[in-house]
Amino acid sequence: MVLTKMKQITETYIGSEVEKAVVIVPAYFNYAQRQATLDAGKIAGIDIIRIINEPTAAAIANGLDNISGATGKRNVLIFDLGGAGDTHLGGEDFDNRMVNHFIEEFKRKHNKDISGNPKSLRRLRTTCERAKRTLSSSSIAVIDINKNAIDDVVMVGGSSRIPRVQQILQDLLNGKELCRDINPYEAVAYGATIQAAILSGQGSDKIQDLVLTEVTPLSLGYETVREVMNFAIPRNSAIPTKVTISASTSTDNGSSVGIRVFEGERARSSDNNLLGNSVLSGIQIAPRGVPKLEITFDLQANGILEVSARDKVTGSKNKHHHQEWKVVEKGDRWDDD
Ligand SMILES: *[C@@H]1O[C@H](CO)[C@@H](O)[C@H](O)[C@H]1NC(C)=O
Ligand SMILES: *[C@@H]1O[C@H](CO)[C@@H](O)[C@H](O)[C@H]1NC(C)=O
Repeated sequence: MVLTKMKQITETYIGSEVEKAVVIVPAYFNYAQRQATLDAGKIAGIDIIRIINEPTAAAIANGLDNISGATGKRNVLIFDLGGAGDTHLGGEDFDNRMVNHFIEEFKRKHNKDISGNPKSLRRLRTTCERAKRTLSSSSIAVIDINKNAIDDVVMVGGSSRIPRVQQILQDLLNGKELCRDINPYEAVAYGATIQAAILSGQGSDKIQDLVLTEVTPLSLGYETVREVMNFAIPRNSAIPTKVTISASTSTDNGSSVGIRVFEGERARSSDNNLLGNSVLSGIQIAPRGVPKLEITFDLQANGILEVSARDKVTGSKNKHHHQEWKVVEKGDRWDDD
């Protein structure tokens, strides 16, 4: 519904249909959440040509204006203090703190509890939010000490405009000046727009020369004997990436082998997040350790993961090769047909 609304707003603004989009997600999004984002795009009638992480998008926005001057590597710190939610501390959390504070104040001063009165609470919340916004637009002094490994500090999210927040951040960075060229509300959307221009071959040479390297937020691997997780693609690997691993059986004379794919960092597979199951049948009947098997993890630029398996002796291949790797509930199995 959000994507449908965004599509409508954009179409009204630009006066033509929007068919494709680059979508930004929080960096901590796991594989299932990214897949769900792609599905949401399909439902909204948008072809999501790329999913990029929020801090990556903000870094693109910073990088575009700083490419020519940059001599090689630049370290950019992305400070994100945005809307709301549980995982991120966001603007709504400030509102909640203020509302609770004033409920207590009211109790203390007037001996009256307004927490059960929805109308009063609504009015209090609106007032608190307005006060927060007012405080966000007043300016503060900037001291530049500039003796840091960080070249630029880019602010993301409306709440990063709060002067007190900026001051705390600046104090932490020995007074390092924060980038003010990019509006924190727009930094991420700006980065996504640049990426969309690159992918559709539009914009200046400067834009076309940008190369974006995105990384995986979580390791990907498969389960081996006694629930030992074998990591195929470690986290923070640049994508797209393709990894082939030699493997074998752990029992004698089997004709098929199950492949359970997980994401996460824990050594025990069951402590990680199961992405899907697959079965390779028609393998060489032999004692354990003899069959020569290969498992390939292919993580594509659009975030789709394809896992395939092959027996090098019998030539048997995983039947689900080249199909989209489906996210299934724990315990579910792919039909072997
Ligand atoms: C580019 O770098 C300069 C110097 O660090 C900084 O002041 C400026 O805000 C950066 N531009 C953008 C768009 O981030
Ligand atoms: C595996 O097959 C071989 C050859 O047929 C046989 O000797 C052996 O006992 C089998 N092992 C098991 C565990 O079934």
